[in-house]
Order: sequence, then C-alpha cells, then structure tokens
Amino acid sequence: MLYKRIVVFPVSLVRTGKVFDLNRKMSESGKFKVFVTRSDMPEGGINILKKQCDVRIWESPLPIPRADLLKSISGVNGIYCSLTEKIDQEVLNTAGEGLKVVATISVGHDHIDVAECKKRGIRIGYTPDVLTDATAELTLALLLSTSRRLPEAQNEAKTGGWVSWAPTWMTGPGLAGATVGIVGFGRIGQAVARRVKSFNTAQILYFNRSERPEAKEIGAVKVTFDELLAKSDFVICCAALVPETKEIFNKSAYDRMKRNAIFVNTSRGGTVDQNALVEALQNGTIRAAGLDVTTPEPLPLDSPLFKLKNCVVLPHIGSASIEARNTMSELTANNIIAALNGKDMPAELK
Ligand code: GLV
Repeated sequence: MLYKRIVVFPVSLVRTGKVFDLNRKMSESGKFKVFVTRSDMPEGGINILKKQCDVRIWESPLPIPRADLLKSISGVNGIYCSLTEKIDQEVLNTAGEGLKVVATISVGHDHIDVAECKKRGIRIGYTPDVLTDATAELTLALLLSTSRRLPEAQNEAKTGGWVSWAPTWMTGPGLAGATVGIVGFGRIGQAVARRVKSFNTAQILYFNRSERPEAKEIGAVKVTFDELLAKSDFVICCAALVPETKEIFNKSAYDRMKRNAIFVNTSRGGTVDQNALVEALQNGTIRAAGLDVTTPEPLPLDSPLFKLKNCVVLPHIGSASIEARNTMSELTANNIIAALNGKDMPAELK
C-alpha cells in the first residue's frame, strides 16, 4: 500500500515533541517543518516536499483525530491537509506564529477559516483547474447512472431480476432534447456544460452570482434560480459551499422542480437540505437524485438515502482520477514550497 512506502515519524517521538524543536522556526536540519495530515497522500507531492522540507506525516490513511491534529502541528511552518480537516482558529493558534501556509489537496476550501488565515498572513494553497476534467467526468457518470438507473439495473442482472428483454423495464429519461440546469457556473460547471452539450440537449441554463463570458461560446443561458428549477429536466449543483448556497436545495426548491427532474450534486453536501431531499424522493416530488457528496460524510449506513431506489450515492469521488489526484498532490506540495520561500504560489487562494 502507498502509505507504507512513506517515511512516518514514530508517534512516540511526535507526542514527545522530539521530531521538531517547537521553539525553533525551522527543524534541526535547518529546513522548514511541514505536517501532512494523512499517510496516503499521493507520493509525487510528498517526494517534492521531502526534497526541501522536514516532513512529518500522520501515521494513518484515515482522517486524523482532532486531538492528534492539535498535538502534531505545534511549531510547524506548513500544513498539507485535505477536506477532512477543519482548519480553524484553534488549529492556527496551536500551530503558532511560525505557520506560514496551509495547503489543501482540494479545490473546495469550506473547511478552512479563510478570513482568519488572511488576518494572520497565513497563505492558502488549493487545487483548482487540475481536477476540473475529472470532476466533470464523474458528474456526467453520476447523472447517467441516476437517469438510466445503472446501479439498480446491475443489481437486477445479478440477482435474477433480468427475466427477459422488456420494453418498459428499467427505463429512464434521456439527455437528448432535455433542458439541463447548472447551479454554479465556475470551472467545473462550465466543464459539465461542455460535456452535456455533446448529448444533443435542447438547452443549457445556468444560475450563477455573475454572468460568465464563457457561457456564450458554450451556448448556456443565465437565468434566475427559480427559472432554472422550473424549466430543467436535469438540475446539477456545481456551486461552492458559501453562506449564500447553504441548503439552497431545500423543500421549496424541490417543490419548484419538475416532477420528472433528476437532481445531481457533486459540490458539497451542505448545499442540500438532506431531510427535505429524502422526502422529495419518497413522495415523487422529483424523480431521482445522484449524490457524490452528503451530510455527513461518510453517510451513515442507516441513512434513508441508501434505501431509496431512486437515489444513487457515491463516496465523494469527484476528483478521483489517478491523474487528477497525482497532480493535486504535486500542486499542493509546490504551493507549500513556494509560500515558504516567499514566492508566488502556483495556486493561491486570494
Ligand atoms: C473535492 O471535493 C474538492 O473540493 O477538491
């Protein structure tokens, strides 16, 4: 397994503070100190970091428990984290004044207190662009899996439900001739629109804070949230989670959608009122939903969403192409190295 190939400092040393001298800006070796929050970060990035920094890697390929995170970061100059770690004031206080950069292997940054980092002059690295194609591909895969009922159909095939070819069995709505509404028309929303277009859709609508110049060439039309909900056969959420988008998909939104609408979310679970979605799926307010993100994550096994045939749930794998994850790791490492050397970061959140 990948994490076994990565040098891990013994926890006993980490706990006793012997790996880094906490009172010094740099480690004994004179290098910047960087803490990596899990053992299974793609190797390429870790190797880049190790060439220049004193790297300490958490021992497990699971999210680091909060108490261990706090114990591990005192005195570090950089934190290489993922979306499973909340980087808040407590973390920043515990890390101390030597902390110069927090770099996340994700494009989403709702887990980081950005305002607080900025106030303290701590730079933030993230991974836009390099995961756009992978996430758009997964969005299309999820959309088609949901509309054409792929998990349900495969289960029927495996369990004896496939009695014969049947004209009305396992049918679902097609994309050709449909109206697709995309909420959040940034890089990923646009990449989804370009792909969706090749399915001969009738119309692509988008809802976004500002008008996007790229929309013209794509042939997408900016509309209000209301209009998008009312007109779309497929509603796709690609919006970042910010206060304005928190639970934007609530009961009122589902009520305003078409009864045959398919809803897909590959952004963040927090954009959805999940109880209201369960009800909408159970009552037939909308036809089906495909979710790559939920609240919480992982979704508990007893969640009603897992029991619904008209809901496809994936375990947050939007950017999980091998190429994207490797590049994300390298970008995260290069973000850290640039920030620690006072240089322009390849992808700084400003
Ligand atoms: C994944 O969800 C990301 O934000 O990169």
